Amino acid sequence: MTGAGRVSRSGLPYQVFDTPAKVARAAARHWVERARIAQARRGVFSVALSGGSTPGALHVLMATPPYRDGLDWSRVEIFFGDDRPVGPDHTDSNFRMANQTLLSHVPLDSERVHRMEGESEDLAAAAERYAAVMDRRLEKNARGFPVIDLSIQGLGPDGHTASLFPKTTALEEMTKSVVANEVPRLKTWRLTMTYPVLNAARSILMLVTGERKAKIVKKIFDADPEERNYPASGIRPEDGELIWMLDTEAASLLK
Ligand code: 6PG
Repeated sequence: MTGAGRVSRSGLPYQVFDTPAKVARAAARHWVERARIAQARRGVFSVALSGGSTPGALHVLMATPPYRDGLDWSRVEIFFGDDRPVGPDHTDSNFRMANQTLLSHVPLDSERVHRMEGESEDLAAAAERYAAVMDRRLEKNARGFPVIDLSIQGLGPDGHTASLFPKTTALEEMTKSVVANEVPRLKTWRLTMTYPVLNAARSILMLVTGERKAKIVKKIFDADPEERNYPASGIRPEDGELIWMLDTEAASLLK
């Protein structure tokens, strides 16, 4: 049944929708709902955006009625789960994609838009500065990590999410919220949030669509609950909720 909640063998809650457009609509409804709760309880709503191609449809929806009108954008804190080692105008920039599809179309308070400084010559220092901004702007959990209301994340065919790529050092980072992460397979570096801060989120949406994700979804979903072969398997919020939203193509190999 479209949208009905299920749980994978590996303990991941998920919903399957007929098309990527229905995934985007379900994600937009969830975003508005979480924003209403956060703004009612704490006066502000924080969201961490993802890069890649999947979130684009969600961003466009959020910039369009009725979703755009469902929250007070002046009280939204925008963060990024990761970004590439480029400036805000570079075609690879996650900020640029978000700005084109959402940020420039809604009445945000510019003081509340927090871009990762991918252009920095010293990415480790840029990561530290970003973590310090998160510490200033967000409440902390019991372990001292900043708590994001909603983290929007995707899944790469290799099982990466944010810029937590297989066999990279960021996977082992349990102290810092944000790090510079070398990704040898891509011959590049990334800035990325780490497991402790992603898993501190009040809500996490994993948005996965398309046939090319079917194999990795099956591997992650059919694994034993404690198996962490793929980075996205380690996205397990401590106190928050997790929903994987798949289209039928991405879910096509699931029983
Ligand atoms: C990035 C993203 C990355 C993305 C996956 C899926 O910077 O590329 O943060 O983690 O979510 O690679 O990308 P697609 O949505 O394009 O499949």
